[in-house]
Amino acid sequence: MNSIRTPKRRLITSALPYANGPIHIGHIAGAYLPADIYVRYLRSMCEDVVWVCGSDEHGAAITLRAKKDGTTPQEIVDKYHVEMQEAFSGLDISFDHYSRTSSKKHHKVAQEFFLQLLKNDSFEVKTQDQYFDEEADQFLADRYITGTCPKCNASDAYGDQCEKCGATLSPTDLINPKSTLSGAKPILKPTTLWYLPMGRHEDWLRDYIENGMLDGIPHHNAKAWKSHVVGQCKSWIDGGLQSRAMTRDLKWGVPVPIEGAEGKVLYVWLDAPIGYITATMEWAEKNGQDWKDWWQNSDTDLLHFIGKDNIVFHCLIFPILLKQHGGYILPSQVPANEFMNLEGAKISTSRNWAVWVSEYLESFPEGSDTMRYVLASLMPEQRDSEFTWLDYKDRINNELADVLGNFVNRIVVLTRKYYNGSVPKTPAPSSLNNVDKALIESLSKAPAKIGDLISRHRFREAQLEAMNVARLGNKYLTEEEPWKVQKTNPERVKTIMYLACQVVGNLGIVLEPFLPRTAEKLRVSFGIPQAKWSDTSPNIVNPDTILGDLPILFTKIETETIEAEIAKLGSKDDASDNENNSNIMPIKDSTTFDNFTAMDLRVATVTECIPIKKTKKLLQLTVDTGLDTRTVVSGIAEHFSPEDVIGRKVVLLANLAPRNIRGVESQGMILMASTSDGGLRFITPEEGVNSGDVIS
Ligand code: 2FM
Ligand code: ZN
Repeated sequence: MNSIRTPKRRLITSALPYANGPIHIGHIAGAYLPADIYVRYLRSMCEDVVWVCGSDEHGAAITLRAKKDGTTPQEIVDKYHVEMQEAFSGLDISFDHYSRTSSKKHHKVAQEFFLQLLKNDSFEVKTQDQYFDEEADQFLADRYITGTCPKCNASDAYGDQCEKCGATLSPTDLINPKSTLSGAKPILKPTTLWYLPMGRHEDWLRDYIENGMLDGIPHHNAKAWKSHVVGQCKSWIDGGLQSRAMTRDLKWGVPVPIEGAEGKVLYVWLDAPIGYITATMEWAEKNGQDWKDWWQNSDTDLLHFIGKDNIVFHCLIFPILLKQHGGYILPSQVPANEFMNLEGAKISTSRNWAVWVSEYLESFPEGSDTMRYVLASLMPEQRDSEFTWLDYKDRINNELADVLGNFVNRIVVLTRKYYNGSVPKTPAPSSLNNVDKALIESLSKAPAKIGDLISRHRFREAQLEAMNVARLGNKYLTEEEPWKVQKTNPERVKTIMYLACQVVGNLGIVLEPFLPRTAEKLRVSFGIPQAKWSDTSPNIVNPDTILGDLPILFTKIETETIEAEIAKLGSKDDASDNENNSNIMPIKDSTTFDNFTAMDLRVATVTECIPIKKTKKLLQLTVDTGLDTRTVVSGIAEHFSPEDVIGRKVVLLANLAPRNIRGVESQGMILMASTSDGGLRFITPEEGVNSGDVIS
């Protein structure tokens, strides 16, 4: 269990996403879907729970994006605040309240919090030389400055962190520093900053993280925390906690509310987690509640759902701030997830190596449950995981359609056929055989098992157990063969069908956290009024219930559908640059010379080119390889029109196995360069190189 006691209420937060770009499936699998599953379960258990989130609208992520787009930070955050909410609701992510940190209310809450910290002597004020960009007239911290990492020599470390080796840095640690804004070499200029002396807090933090103790009193079950979360915190503490500046000399952010601190704002990682408090205040106001019950009452458990890059902020820095302020509870659990990769590479916004939720929903308007299912199956709970479209297809076809959809469909069809859609009467206990009893037993135990796994944040296993209920039903039907028995013993079939209907009814509740739309369809059709965990039972569906309409639950995915999705990867330049200019794709793992020579790379000439109907991204090219003329489908339509392409010499991977993409057989692949600005360019052979020439 996570808690050392049963809390009266739970406050759940999910990392406030930066409002600087669209939401992708890596975000969803990291901090939002796990929280949604957890919260839906708690609601179904009738627990007192509130889940808040909102847009993180300050920090370099926003201002750099605005600069890149030639617009203002406000316009950027206004745009993405709306877009991100649409993406979340498209995947049925059911926050109780979604806030934003650029609001007046949040500025006031964050400023008051800061003033209390100041009163409590939480900061060290230091006037020191900091890097300054004379051209941009700005001090340079965090992502505004890059240089060589003093620890690993990577050339593109930021002012706060080296992404290559993970070291925490200060701008003055960087070798050969350079301004991100102008590229200029910065000068040193004195400024005053408010530092959080984290070193002062090492002892109690260690006891809190390693033993779950706070001020000598048991606080939470430290053993229930994920080992990678505890491990990361320990290594920070072991390395010695350095003071961290909590203010910045910037224009965009929450102004530091002190006379003489004009032109300074709060560090984004000070104001953003306070955003959780603002969001709770807003929610409480709307719902006639007292926000303090959720933040200042030791009967409340506070849980932060985040990705692993946010661990230090939620497990060390925010707890220091809460404790220093006084009166606040501290997190009792931080179930951080690791990262989800995509098709063999790290998800990258700037290289468009991502599955964007809004684009996904355009291609699969009914695809919320299916994506949720696949992401929960692959959730990076303990280690990094990988999403592939092939896996997406296989899980939908072999699990959702073949197991769940097929089982439910068989029950509906047979109940209609034998009993005009009316659920048979409850069988007399004496008529139950051992197989029936075993089914009833497994069915009775499943909800508690699934609930226990969800409570322990083991969502992958929990979903697997929920699907096992459908597997149980399928197995029962296959073994009992009601379609055969009906001819000889229709009374026995009534028992079988009664019990099978109970399996579906229970699925309508235990699937709710994972597949809310499907679960609701099952409940509506089988006459179950609400998703209440305590209603699960081997007699959940009333006899004589007339089954409502239930169309096929899952349509199988064709290979060409996922091929079209794969073709979209890496082919667009709507770069929102979450990686902040780190646009160079890392070198892939080494391969063998044999693997390389197995590829037949040829020069070819494009002779014809037409767009593929009903797609935005695909062009159909006819190419002359010198040996034959063939068709190739390429995901470049957003970068090139057919006229740009006809007549070009290109590099063709000529022996790639043919693939059917949107009904067209593609016989090879045109090689393109994905440029560091997110664009796409042809690799053009020089004069004298002709169709059919071999590239080796
Ligand atoms: O990493 C991020 O996307 C941050 N915007 C998360 C902030 S979480 C919180 F503290 F608000
Ligand atoms: Zn480094």
